[in-house]
Amino acid sequence: MKKFRRIGILTSGGDAPGMNAAVRAVARAAIARGVKVMGIYEGYKGLIDDTIMGTKLLQPKDVSNIINHGGTMLYSARCPEFKDEEGMQKAIETCRRNKIDGIVAIGGDGTFRGATDLSERGIPCIGLPGTIDNDITSTDESIGYDTAMNTVIEAVDRLRDTCESHARCNVVEVMGRDAGYIALMTGIAVGASAIVTREVPFDEEAAIESIKYAKSMGKRNFIVIVAEGVPLDLADNGKPGYSEALAKRIQAATGVETKFARLAHIVRGGSPSLRDRTLAAEMGVKAVELLLEGKSNLVVCLQKGQIVPVDIKYALILDRMYKNKLKPGDLEKFTADQQEAMKSFCAAKSADFKRLYDMAGVISSFK
Ligand code: ADP
Ligand code: F6P
Repeated sequence: MKKFRRIGILTSGGDAPGMNAAVRAVARAAIARGVKVMGIYEGYKGLIDDTIMGTKLLQPKDVSNIINHGGTMLYSARCPEFKDEEGMQKAIETCRRNKIDGIVAIGGDGTFRGATDLSERGIPCIGLPGTIDNDITSTDESIGYDTAMNTVIEAVDRLRDTCESHARCNVVEVMGRDAGYIALMTGIAVGASAIVTREVPFDEEAAIESIKYAKSMGKRNFIVIVAEGVPLDLADNGKPGYSEALAKRIQAATGVETKFARLAHIVRGGSPSLRDRTLAAEMGVKAVELLLEGKSNLVVCLQKGQIVPVDIKYALILDRMYKNKLKPGDLEKFTADQQEAMKSFCAAKSADFKRLYDMAGVISSFK
């Protein structure tokens, strides 16, 4: 098997708490095995042109004192040029020049698309899921998701205090891009009166009726959690923006003064939770093991409590399938057995979402 000289490590796409803990785990695990680690700044942008920010050969001390920090010490960027062959070739040239024999790329599905392109051009890549959105279907959790949810519940608990004093409702919009995981789970955790996501149809009239009823039973505070990706018009799949309009309609229909809060990027910062740090540690070490075993084009996932490698292409198709965005011909690239496995995986994931959503409705009801 080829002897590894250097592993490159980068963080790409939206940053997420726990990315630093992952960088630390990768660096220390590789160095412990006698492999050098090169930090690449600003994701694929730094790989295309390493003269802007430079690169850094990481020593164990360089990743000291970062485990508790949000953001990413390697910085992040969105880099459209990496999608073109020209950008890709420049990235390959940077790897060759810096004697980088493999890359650990921490990010979301866009980052994995880039990683798979690089892998196919001879630079082995392993992806680590790092995004607050938890929208990578093949893993039960991504690095950053737990912290983001904890940040949401802390903020909403504060809003609830003041809602209770003033007998108000607060509609809170949370990040997640197109995914409703943060909204669903935080909605359950804060005892929201309603949760709105794209994954499950939302009955606005019924939600308003249930707020009115709970008010008549003496309830004074109402929290409604809305995922940022919910379209302005629920009936179409057009542009997002539902949350603020909902707040106005709740106030008009219930007579409960209703405030609106968009938590936005607040949810993406801050010190990572225990869960994100331990997940980052386990995933980071696994990524190094896989690379040194000569593996490539894999994303490290958490499935039913186990850290497992999943083929990136498979993971990306699973994602498309779960999000109903499969392109014609995509699925046919897999065997009939694989297609069946993907379908049942996605069906189970959707059913789980729905089960939790329905449960949230039952336990928030005053009837
Ligand atoms: P995330 O990784 O969080 O999903 P992005 O979608 O912004 O975030 O992707 C991060 C980066 O990955 C992009 O800026 C780009 O450099 C690279 N990337 C995204 N999509 C592709 C693609 N189809 N092919 C190659 N690289 C891609
Ligand atoms: O993917 C993480 C995320 O924070 C999403 O929740 C959000 O939709 C998006 O990134 C925001 O992107 P930007 O930081 O580029 O505004």
